[in-house]
Amino acid sequence: MFGSTLDYFILRQIAHRRNLATEVQLDNAFGQESSSSLEAELPKFRKLVDRFEGHFPLLPGLRYLDMGCGTGELTMAFAKLGAGAITGVDFLPRNIDRARTLAARLDIDPPVRFICQDLHAWRPAGDERYDVLLSFDALEHIENPERFLAKMADFVAPDGIAVLAFGPLFHSPFGDHMWDFFRLQIPWRGMLFPEQVMLRVRRECFRPTDPAKRYQDIAGGLNMMRYSEFLRIVRATGWEFDYLAVNTFLNRIPVLRFLSDQLMRVPQLGDYFAHNVYAVLRRCQQTNAAGQGPEPGAGH
Ligand SMILES: C[S@@+](CC[C@H](N)C(=O)[O-])C[C@H]1O[C@@H](n2cnc3c(N)ncnc32)[C@H](O)[C@@H]1O
Repeated sequence: MFGSTLDYFILRQIAHRRNLATEVQLDNAFGQESSSSLEAELPKFRKLVDRFEGHFPLLPGLRYLDMGCGTGELTMAFAKLGAGAITGVDFLPRNIDRARTLAARLDIDPPVRFICQDLHAWRPAGDERYDVLLSFDALEHIENPERFLAKMADFVAPDGIAVLAFGPLFHSPFGDHMWDFFRLQIPWRGMLFPEQVMLRVRRECFRPTDPAKRYQDIAGGLNMMRYSEFLRIVRATGWEFDYLAVNTFLNRIPVLRFLSDQLMRVPQLGDYFAHNVYAVLRRCQQTNAAGQGPEPGAGH
């Protein structure tokens, strides 16, 4: 913004070290949570399901795959809320260790399975297909989202769907995912400040043992996909929208909801204001002649 030296100085002034942790500390930090906390949080997860306005089925007869399941709380919550058998996949070993520990402590029926694999490389055993592919808060992290969305087709049953919720997107006001270590939040910080400077401050104040020099390489990844790119790759990889909603967190504030909807209609601005996305996809039955996806809004 003002040259790397001044940019670094500004960021260091507003950064704090309260959440500094090494990868080893993060690996060892798990295991203290109580199993009753998941029960207590079920109403919150129910609200998440309701945000899809009836497009997210939770039925015991369906097979689910949670892609980028993290530490598995959401995967287990979906099982408790009525989903059928669920498999969670994530490539961070500490996440899967924690998910398995928690699953062993909870009495979950139907069974929940956790697999530690990179989704780009993984194949379901026996080429099993899933009725509902889930991906929550992961699509802005997974490297090469186009290849990933194309590969999702290998996992889904013929009439299956993919339920995606993700964000903040990198180009939106808080898309750098670094709010936890700044005292002062500067909107669009990840775009205003050079990547090298941001990641240097990240190393010094937040993750001293993560050597990432690019956003894509930080532990867990950050792919910098734009909203317009998401729309393009959905179509390019042979999916179509059953449902699409953007910035649903604004639904309770009608003025902001209205403003967001107007901004999202301006093609050049949408990328900078699309904070979170809720989408339900299914395989294209036929090519969309106009090549257009639905217009995003609070939902439709
Ligand atoms: C922000 S977390 C979300 C976790 C969980 N879905 C939730 O909502 O709590 C994103 C997860 O995606 C995982 N991830 C990113 N790229 C992946 C890949 N290629 N294969 C498997 N997991 C991946 C990361 O390890 C991380 O746990």
